Amino acid sequence: MKLFQHVSDIGDLRTALAEAQEVKRDRYQWQHLGRNKTALLIFFNNSLRTRLSTQKAAMNLGMNVIVLDVNQGAWKLETERGVIMDGDKSEHLLEAIPVMGSYCDIIGVRSFARFESRKDDYEEKILNQFIRYSGRPVFFMESATVHPLQAFADLITIEEHKQTARPKVVMTWAPHPRALPQAVPNSFAEWMLAADVDFVITHPEGYELDPQFIGHARVEYDQMKAFEGADFVYAKNWSCPGVTRPNDYGKVLHDYHTMMDWCVSSRQMAVTNNAAFLHCLPVRRNMIVTDDVIESPRSLVIPEAANREISAQVVLKRMLESL
Ligand code: CP
Repeated sequence: MKLFQHVSDIGDLRTALAEAQEVKRDRYQWQHLGRNKTALLIFFNNSLRTRLSTQKAAMNLGMNVIVLDVNQGAWKLETERGVIMDGDKSEHLLEAIPVMGSYCDIIGVRSFARFESRKDDYEEKILNQFIRYSGRPVFFMESATVHPLQAFADLITIEEHKQTARPKVVMTWAPHPRALPQAVPNSFAEWMLAADVDFVITHPEGYELDPQFIGHARVEYDQMKAFEGADFVYAKNWSCPGVTRPNDYGKVLHDYHTMMDWCVSSRQMAVTNNAAFLHCLPVRRNMIVTDDVIESPRSLVIPEAANREISAQVVLKRMLESL
């Protein structure tokens, strides 16, 4: 595997899920694969889970790991061609990327949506430069539009906890005081549509996700109706994707105080099929989900986060195997 961005990059999902369980049985059995190989993890944005789980996965495989926080200690990077670099940015990404590639065998990059231009974000301007100029396999650690390591971990968690062959999985928008990217819901939708689940999306009008990720998924604007009979509830906030409201891309459409009935509480969970609760974390309690729901025995947020190590290890293992 030379690229990990979309669900299609992982190939057959049954095989990938079986491989995840094989990793869980003994995560240290492939240490020979990573010997004298280096993973470089580049963060343009903050992280707790992605940083720790991906480092751990690489170490499980016997790799050396270098982590670079671009905004803390590295030169400030210019990302646009044609700019006269007379400001505070000392280095251009077009030199920095091949230099970084020369110090490693595999590169992971986190670079969130900037919300300056929908076109730039959805064309994955930053990550595509790493793919083009690093000369190394690249895996996305959350980009402007996707977070595939998270979606793979979510799928592993659903597979481990499902009680019916084809569970109903509901992804719900929930309120947040700040504008958040669409990467997590985009990838979750993409992966759920590829998996054998009954998938429903619910959100207020204006938050329609890009058709390239949600395909023909059922969208139900009535959150209570969407929750009926759900086996899994996946909560996430996202800002306006600019699909039905192009001028509002990246905006929070309503004062969150007026949207608090979308916060996942025992009221909505009561109409589900005793649904398990999922969230990628970090989560703002009593905005996205109430204390009692996230603390309930049906909350899977901790095993879900633990599965980030497993999804990262499957991806790194496959990249090492194809070096
Ligand atoms: N879920 C997730 O990606 O967490 P971090 O932002 O902490 O890495």
